[in-house]
Amino acid sequence: MFHRMCLVAICLGLLAFRSMAAEMLLPDKWGGGWQPDAELVKLTSERRPLFNYRETLVAPFELPRLFRTGEDEKAYGKDDWELRRSELVELLASEMYGRSPATVERQSMQLISIDKQALGGSATAKVVQIRLGVENRELKLELKMFLPNRVLGAVPVFLLINHRGPENLDMTRKVRNGYWPVEEVIERGYGIAGFQVSDIDPDKHDGFRNGVHGLFGREIEGDSWGSLAAWGWGASRAMDYFVADPGIDAAKVAVLGHSRSGKAALWAGARDTRFSIVISNNSGCGGAALSHRRFGETIDRINHAFPHWFCGNFERYNDREHALSFDQHFLIAAIAPRAVYVASASRDLWADPVGEYRSLYYAGEVYQLYGDEGLPVSIPPAAGNPVGSKRMGFHIREGGHGLEIYDWHRYMDFADNLWHEFAEVTRQ
Ligand code: GCU
Repeated sequence: MFHRMCLVAICLGLLAFRSMAAEMLLPDKWGGGWQPDAELVKLTSERRPLFNYRETLVAPFELPRLFRTGEDEKAYGKDDWELRRSELVELLASEMYGRSPATVERQSMQLISIDKQALGGSATAKVVQIRLGVENRELKLELKMFLPNRVLGAVPVFLLINHRGPENLDMTRKVRNGYWPVEEVIERGYGIAGFQVSDIDPDKHDGFRNGVHGLFGREIEGDSWGSLAAWGWGASRAMDYFVADPGIDAAKVAVLGHSRSGKAALWAGARDTRFSIVISNNSGCGGAALSHRRFGETIDRINHAFPHWFCGNFERYNDREHALSFDQHFLIAAIAPRAVYVASASRDLWADPVGEYRSLYYAGEVYQLYGDEGLPVSIPPAAGNPVGSKRMGFHIREGGHGLEIYDWHRYMDFADNLWHEFAEVTRQ
């Protein structure tokens, strides 16, 4: 009996020591690290028994390596990475998001409206129509924006890809919310823009006939682009406008999306190197979250519920995550060395906050090649503790799935730090 008690005491001591050691390894900014609320895990597991919400039930897996190994394993340099990066983009295009056509035959831009005294004189409001043409077919993308009047010279812009209702991009400002917080962004000296994904491709399975698919009118193959890639391509067309507008600093554009649009924003940023910052807000499965973990939403579920989001080839991985030769850290690494920010929400277990953090953490290996320190530990910080380096940012917002003013302020803090020359001038 005495021996058993001693053994139990030793084991408990060891356990306590292990968790203390883990705590001690976490930097102060981590606030002790994040763990989901136990009650929420229980409730969610009961409500959706087909999906896993318990960290202890994540089966061990081997994460595909970012750098090629084997014969040509060597110390990677930046040049090697540029080559490897193009391989990753190719792999993600052919197996997951689908290939996007490079250009349209005709593209023109027209200023539809301008109000230089918007928001009581503090901003200029513009609506621009981008017309995209192939043969006799045409698509119109409406780009909405507010630019701060107090900034002299070209201004950096945050571009939101919007899959929610058009009232969320309200130019009259009758509808105000944290999703597209025009007033707050203008107040901080940045421009804010947005477009509706349905202008590019409808968010429904229509056999890839409408929107940009119909515009190009190509045969649908296993690697043809899905709607997420199409929306990301739309963000690049908005970027074409920013480059052409002298009032905008096109070298300082952040592309941002929430949830399904966050997936699109990451893919847009991986492909189009003109974006300076790429922001994923609660993008989850098919976005920032590692698929191998099978935590919350799975590939099988996403492909069945949203058959139009990815390319046909991605269905090969339905319930076969172990067969993936890549994972979402490849997507984030393909953005390097440009800046990336990933945000989760504490009650959004469907999107797997730990998996979202880990992709970022593993992609840090590539950022380090460019002299960025990356993230020091694989455990996410406690909610309300934004962490990161100059080029990699992360936070968990307290609360559920959503894009809120708290998130936007963290993105702008991150931009202030990255684009500090700009921030210093506007603050004077
Ligand atoms: C669903 C879907 C998610 C997606 C989300 C959204 O929950 O399963 O993958 O991110 O919708 O876009 O709001």
